[in-house]
Amino acid sequence: MTEEKETPEESPVASDEEMVKVHAELHREKPPPTMGFLHAPLVFVFLFGCLVFFCSIQLANSTNKFQLHPPEDLVKLSPEEKAALKLERKAESGKKIFAIRCASCHQLNGQGLPNMFPPLAGSEWATSDPGLITKIILNGLKGKIEVKGETWGLVPAQNMIPVPISDREIANVTTYVRQAWGNSASEITEQQVSDFRAESSGQTEQWTGEQLRALYPSGISDK
Ligand code: HEC
Repeated sequence: MTEEKETPEESPVASDEEMVKVHAELHREKPPPTMGFLHAPLVFVFLFGCLVFFCSIQLANSTNKFQLHPPEDLVKLSPEEKAALKLERKAESGKKIFAIRCASCHQLNGQGLPNMFPPLAGSEWATSDPGLITKIILNGLKGKIEVKGETWGLVPAQNMIPVPISDREIANVTTYVRQAWGNSASEITEQQVSDFRAESSGQTEQWTGEQLRALYPSGISDK
């Protein structure tokens, strides 16, 4: 009974000393912190280092000395090949523009529709002077014309209105038209289109066939 009573009174006094003693003992008994720990991680660090090293060699070999892009001579094309590739892409883009902007009337096959829309396949208006086809797109075309020996544009409601697209789009679509369906005329550049746009800035109405024939007398042999 008495012991039980004393314990709680003694314990706070004794506990400080005891705590210090216990800690000191624990401290003495504790193994040095590095014992048994250091060697295994060192081995892993070494192995990991080797892994990084050999992977780097492998990566350097497989990426051509860490270059992001393939070696230059692989991408190097001759100027002719580059020009051909550029023209191909231009015509591809032109084909899409044609499908959206022109095919509803002139048809996807460039044959037009009898008595309504003239053909572009084999048409001198499309394939002679670059200025002709470009200016037709810029300002439209109305009135009678001859295409491949047939007369078109007799119905005023079926005139061609201007197609509002950019110089680049005109360059692409005209280049496509001039080289599709058996046509084999020259490419038209964006710069040419921009020059033709400047030349025809005074023309507010749709062109007539006569106007264009006067501007490009050698362009059209049809009457
Ligand atoms: C709304 C229908 C319509 C659209 C769209 C249209 N055209 Fe035309 N196009 C005509 C008509 C109609 C004529 C004949 C106009 C006339 O003589 O009165 C014509 C004439 C032409 C001519 C001269 C005649 C010939 O057959 O070669 C060319 C070149 C031409 N268009 C190219 C184009 C191109 C390229 C596009 C697209 C960028 C286009 N057209 C979009 C209706 C259209």
